Amino acid sequence: MRPSFIFSSLLLFASPALAASAADWSTRQIYQLVTDRFATSNNSATTCDTSLRTYCGGSWKGIINHLDYIQGMGFDAVWISPVVKNVDATPYGDGYHGYWSEDINTISSRYGSTDDLKALSNALHERGMYLMIDIVINHFAGIPTNTTTSPSNQFTFDYSRFNPFNMADDFHAQCFINDYTNQTDVEQCWLGDEKLPLPDLNTEDDAVVSALSSWIGDLVKAYAVDGVRIDTVKHIRHDFWSAFTKSAGVWTLGEVLTDNATYSAQYIGAVDAVLDYPSWYNLLDAFGTSTGNLSALTLNPSPAALASKSSPTSLTGVFLENHDQPRFASHTSDVALIKNAMSWVFVGDGVPIMYYGQEQGYAGGADPANREALWLSGYETNKPLVLYASKLTSARKLAIAANKTFISTPASWINQSDPSTIALSKPPLLSLFTNVGSNATSQPTWSIPAGLYEANTTLVDVVSCTRLVVGEDGVNVTAMEGLPKVMIPASMLKKDGGACPALAIKQSGATRRSVVGVLSVVSAVWSVVTLV
Ligand SMILES: *[C@@H]1O[C@H](CO)[C@@H](O)[C@H](O)[C@H]1NC(C)=O
Ligand SMILES: *[C@@H]1O[C@H](CO)[C@@H](O)[C@H](O)[C@H]1NC(C)=O
Ligand SMILES: *[C@@H]1O[C@H](CO)[C@@H](O)[C@H](O)[C@H]1NC(C)=O
Ligand SMILES: *[C@@H]1O[C@H](CO)[C@@H](O)[C@H](O)[C@H]1NC(C)=O
Ligand SMILES: *[C@@H]1O[C@H](CO)[C@@H](O)[C@H](O)[C@H]1NC(C)=O
Ligand SMILES: *[C@@H]1O[C@H](CO)[C@@H](O)[C@H](O)[C@H]1NC(C)=O
Ligand SMILES: *[C@@H]1O[C@H](CO)[C@@H](O)[C@H](O)[C@H]1NC(C)=O
Ligand SMILES: *[C@@H]1O[C@H](CO)[C@@H](O)[C@H](O)[C@H]1NC(C)=O
Ligand SMILES: *[C@@H]1O[C@H](CO)[C@@H](O)[C@H](O)[C@H]1NC(C)=O
Ligand SMILES: *[C@@H]1O[C@H](CO)[C@@H](O)[C@H](O)[C@H]1NC(C)=O
Repeated sequence: MRPSFIFSSLLLFASPALAASAADWSTRQIYQLVTDRFATSNNSATTCDTSLRTYCGGSWKGIINHLDYIQGMGFDAVWISPVVKNVDATPYGDGYHGYWSEDINTISSRYGSTDDLKALSNALHERGMYLMIDIVINHFAGIPTNTTTSPSNQFTFDYSRFNPFNMADDFHAQCFINDYTNQTDVEQCWLGDEKLPLPDLNTEDDAVVSALSSWIGDLVKAYAVDGVRIDTVKHIRHDFWSAFTKSAGVWTLGEVLTDNATYSAQYIGAVDAVLDYPSWYNLLDAFGTSTGNLSALTLNPSPAALASKSSPTSLTGVFLENHDQPRFASHTSDVALIKNAMSWVFVGDGVPIMYYGQEQGYAGGADPANREALWLSGYETNKPLVLYASKLTSARKLAIAANKTFISTPASWINQSDPSTIALSKPPLLSLFTNVGSNATSQPTWSIPAGLYEANTTLVDVVSCTRLVVGEDGVNVTAMEGLPKVMIPASMLKKDGGACPALAIKQSGATRRSVVGVLSVVSAVWSVVTLV
């Protein structure tokens, strides 16, 4: 292994990140993108046939040019796909997605230069936004040089193509995972197959562990990274993670692909947070069809609930789509179900994450179809789901601003008698969901008991931008066209008409708004100052 790290030897410096913590991330809302598919540098709308599994030409400059689009929807953090050099021209195409590391000390020139990546980091920080980088350290990827596996059952592998781990000893002995219930097998055998094995780093080896530790520290510093999304966390021994997370020095969000919340929860605290895959499975069960099972969401605790740590909101990243799973709209085209499922991501515990393209109505199925080029959409901002995403980010921000304990207090379910409805309270937000779909012959009703809001409180549903008043005995709310309702007290719209500008009440408390304005100017100046 060559312990050489190139990141620090570069000319342009990214503005130092003030090591973003779990608390800093807890109020954020993340937009996830695949760099190769998000935007080209020159804005050319080149064709992109996802089935070819090759590069389509997206770049970090392209992202910089479209930050208005992302920020305009209310997102204040961007998760980009892995940035290091990948193996290309494999039997499964190129490493355009970034998950096939070949050389983790070299930034992939496919997406631009190291300076471009620093410029992206700076551009985000100037807007007060965060940069999250995706990393893969469980394995590398390489094409075997000789696939004749007899007599030793081992194919030949050219480890010298890898950097810095370039010897067989840096990796676990060859074996493909065949028993997912055997944790040793999961951790020490290989992912991939004989056409494209993913050699599994020997993370039991001290030299490998220490090289990975320095590597992540250097990467985070060189690009002023605010958070790290970590691939395949369950494939590395549990006690590896806390030291690695410490070396990263910023919030770490791990992928633990499982529908088992207890299993997932074990990794919270090893890495800072996990992607909430267990709830994602429940979300599909609940809203994937109009006969789905809403109890799957209400009865199964999330990994954050099981981890019993203090701040549930920053313990998981909550999502409806990602680069590994068929898009939600490939399961159902019913816009009512789509809007219900989308809403769930933004109104509960956990940091909301939206995968690029969902807002444009993309409906790609399994990988590679779910990695469409966003430029083919024209980045239109008047599309229904772009507007819808903006409403949801806005409602969450209003709730955070209005209640100091919004983040730290877990959401709770309000029991409903109609099995086609559920209701989630996270004060001051109240979210009502149904899976009857948009063509239901009769609309369900939610019962909101007294006590949740003071009698006579006017609530606004940001989905329909309509008002309703809570009575002495609570209130019954009837659905419209199978759509969900995301409600906040109307008084909170005064601070920012964002979710429903038309309903914003002309306020007397203008001074308060200008104080907020001054604060954001101050923080913008602060991020410019930190550039020097
Ligand atoms: C624009 O960028 C694309 C993708 O990187 C490239 O294929 C194309 O040649 C460029 N077009 C121009 C006019 O520079
Ligand atoms: C491939 O590996 C097999 C088994 O180890 C060996 O017998 C054979 O000579 C190798 N072929 C080449 C071209 O290296
Ligand atoms: C679990 O997997 C490891 C590694 O493949 C293997 O050595 C071990 O025998 C397996 N244990 C059981 C109980 O199957
Ligand atoms: C879920 O994970 C826990 C912890 O690993 C394990 O004890 C339990 O058996 C798993 N449950 C199922 C249904 O696999
Ligand atoms: C719905 O989900 C709950 C919770 O997981 C489960 O107990 C119940 O059996 C499911 N109902 C159906 C019809 O699948
Ligand atoms: C709802 O009904 C209309 C008219 O029959 C039909 O075109 C549409 O596809 C239906 N939508 C769903 C989601 O079933
Ligand atoms: C809500 O439903 C759950 C599960 O059925 C039950 O345990 C709980 O007591 C109910 N809560 C109220 C306030 O009715
Ligand atoms: C703020 O959140 C706490 C905890 O959920 C809740 O008790 C309180 O009523 C909320 N306040 C407002 C104004 O929503
Ligand atoms: C709500 O409004 C009614 C009618 O104006 C009034 O009688 C009642 O006192 C109010 N209740 C509260 C809690 O403000
Ligand atoms: C809501 O509807 C139920 C059932 O019809 C009724 O018993 C209850 O009084 C209603 N609550 C309110 C606040 O109107």
